Amino acid sequence: MTLQEILGIELPIIQAPMAGVQGSALAVAVSNGGGLGSLPCAMLGPDAMRSELEAIAKRTARPFNVNFFCHVPPLPSPAREAAWRAALAPYYRALGIDADGIPAAPGRNPFDAAAADLLSEFRPAVVSFHFGLPSADLLARTRAWGPKILSSATTVDEARWLEANGVDVVIAQGLEAGGHRGMFLSDDLSSQVGTFALLPQIVRAVKVPVVAAGAIADARGVAAAMALGAAGVQVGTAYLLCPEATTSAVHRAALKSEAARHTALTNLFTGRPARGIVNRIVMELGPISVAAPAFPLAASAIAPLRAKAESAGSGDFSPLWSGQNASGCKEIPAAELTRELAALI
Ligand SMILES: Cc1cc2nc3c(=O)[nH]c(=O)nc-3n(C[C@H](O)[C@H](O)[C@H](O)COP(=O)(O)O)c2cc1C
Repeated sequence: MTLQEILGIELPIIQAPMAGVQGSALAVAVSNGGGLGSLPCAMLGPDAMRSELEAIAKRTARPFNVNFFCHVPPLPSPAREAAWRAALAPYYRALGIDADGIPAAPGRNPFDAAAADLLSEFRPAVVSFHFGLPSADLLARTRAWGPKILSSATTVDEARWLEANGVDVVIAQGLEAGGHRGMFLSDDLSSQVGTFALLPQIVRAVKVPVVAAGAIADARGVAAAMALGAAGVQVGTAYLLCPEATTSAVHRAALKSEAARHTALTNLFTGRPARGIVNRIVMELGPISVAAPAFPLAASAIAPLRAKAESAGSGDFSPLWSGQNASGCKEIPAAELTRELAALI
C-alpha cells in the first residue's frame, strides 16, 4: 500500500506539526490541498485544543494529523533553576527584568488521559507523536477509533523500537530537521545523523513505510527522498512563511535573512536539543548549556527576555526554529506549496 492509501490522502506530503508557529489554519490548508495537515498540541491547553479541533472539523472533511509530545515531565530542580537564572542574570539586568517575578512559562505538555479523551471525540485519521510513544494504556485508548499512528525516529534503533511497538508509519527525522530532535532512546547527540544517511538505513531495517523529514524543501528534495525509499515526506521549515502559519514577525524576518544559513542544535530554549537559527543568546551562551533545566522547564526563565526583546522587534532571545535548509520557504498559500512539493512525483 502507498502512503496515500494508508493515510487516505492524495499527495505523499505531510505538513510537519510545528508547535508554537501554527494552528488549525495551516493544517486545514494543507489537508484541503491534498497533503496531510497537522495540528501540533504540545503547547495547547484543553480549551485551545478543543477549539482548534472544532475549527479543523468544520473546515475540512479530509484526513488530518494531530500531534503530541510524549516526554515524561521532570521533577523541578531548584538548584538547576537557580544556576540557569544566574546564567541569564546579566540579560535580566540589561533588559530591566525583575527575575524574582518570573512566572512559569506556558509549558509543553505530554499526551495524557485528558488529551486522549478529547481526541476520541474528534477521531482524527492520523495521530503522531514526538519523543517516542505514550504509555501502552494511552496508546491503546488512542487506537480505539483506528487512527494511523506515526512517530519520529532519529536512529535505526528508534525506528526498530517504534515498529516493535506498533506504529503504522515511521518518520525518519534527520539531523538537519528544524525544531526538537525526536530522540528518545538515547540523549547522545553523536548518535544523530543526516536525513540521507538515516533514511535508507531505516528503510532497510523496518517493514512499515518510512516518511523522510529534515531539510526537504522543494520538489527535487522530495523526489530524492522517494528515490532513497521514502514512502512520503514530512516538511516543516518550508511552510513557515506561508500566510496560514502563525510564525512571528521576528521569526519570519530571520528566515528570510542570511542568518537562516546558520542553525544549531540548542537546549537553551526548552532543555532539549532543537534546531534553530543562531541568534544572540545562542551565540553568547553557546548552543548547549549544562545549566539549562530539563525539558521543558528551561523555557520559563527565558520567556520574559524573549517577550521584552520581541516587543522591541528583536529575536535575540527567541527560539527561531528552522531546519538547515530554509531555501524552500515561500510566502505562498500552503496548498500551493504542497502541490509544488509534489510536482516531480
Ligand atoms: C518550528 C518547528 C516546530 C516544530 N514542532 C514540532 C512539534 O510540535 N511536533 C513534532 O512532532 N515535530 C515538530 N517539529 C519537527 C518536525 O516534525 C520535522 O521533523 C521537521 O520540521 C523536518 O525538518 P524541516 O524543518 O527541515 O522540514 C518542528 C519543526 C519546526 C521547524
